Amino acid sequence: MPPSDAKQPLRKRILTGDRPTGKLHIGHYVGTLENRVRLQDEYEVFLLVADYHMLTTRSGKEFIGEVAQNARGLVLDYLSVGIDPDKTTIYVQSLVPEVAEMFLIFSMLVTVPRLQRVPTLKDVMADLHIENPSAGLLIYPVLQAADILIVRADLVPVGKDQESHIEVCREIARRFNTQYGQVFPEPDALIGDVATLVGTDGKAKMSKSLNNTIYLSDDEETVRKKVMAMYTDPTRLRATDPGHVEGNPVFIYHDAFNENKAEVDELKERYTKGTVGDVEVKKKLILAINQFLEPMRERRAHYLAKPGIIDDIIHHGTEAVTREGRETVGLMREAMGMTYFK
Ligand code: TRP
Repeated sequence: MPPSDAKQPLRKRILTGDRPTGKLHIGHYVGTLENRVRLQDEYEVFLLVADYHMLTTRSGKEFIGEVAQNARGLVLDYLSVGIDPDKTTIYVQSLVPEVAEMFLIFSMLVTVPRLQRVPTLKDVMADLHIENPSAGLLIYPVLQAADILIVRADLVPVGKDQESHIEVCREIARRFNTQYGQVFPEPDALIGDVATLVGTDGKAKMSKSLNNTIYLSDDEETVRKKVMAMYTDPTRLRATDPGHVEGNPVFIYHDAFNENKAEVDELKERYTKGTVGDVEVKKKLILAINQFLEPMRERRAHYLAKPGIIDDIIHHGTEAVTREGRETVGLMREAMGMTYFK
């Protein structure tokens, strides 16, 4: 018999999250949501709504005014894909003051040139036509390290574009541990099966600004319209022309969302030979995507029928992470010797 004071072995921890800037789409699902759901039983999972991170590119009051609504929408998206609020802790970043405290200390442990080399910085500056980044945008990955290390997470499921940020987090953890003593794990990134899903227009990435997304919350009719308008093989003029499957967004989606692999193989073969038209391929894709989204629609309806439940989940999670934050900051201060005037 185990001794009565034997502690439960602690489960390893996952932390990840999203900025409250809009709805999640099927690209988020294959990039990271799928992993978050799958790992809920094995790991202790924390999901944050990163409203401070939003401020790095959207600091105006008009954006802040939308945070509450976007945050609720985000949490509803999480719940709809199968995130279980009894297993996963969901919280809002800016409601936990210890995040800011850790962020300040961590900013001493990484150099400016190191952060200037993070590839997403250049991408964001180019996309949003920013000539001079704010200090906040430059140190975005440092804030992200505070998010991850506040719960001393071991694993961070993110999209491919976030990999370089997790590397900065590992370096900060390592630097802290070497300089002051072992406090933090060096967390690993976990990238989804389909690293980046192409947009419905065939562009490299789904994004709201490009208007090429299929949202998890889209209804059947919206999915139908979006798929019918999808970009396919531009070299193919008639259904009898042999078509290209490779790199064709319609087939990329079939691979990602159609459970019936035999059907997908058959469609690919006929497409290559020129014995199936785009319309048939698209109709089958509409069915597949709607089938994939159906359980999410049901869960969404279930939670929408319980007013107040989303806010309760957020409050509860925020309290839990604040407790974690106090403990972690205590350990940090102890390790650093910042215990004066106590
Ligand atoms: N930077 C992430 C994004 O834009 C969101 C995020 C903030 C995050 N803090 C995090 C992701 C911590 C993982 C871990 O998508």
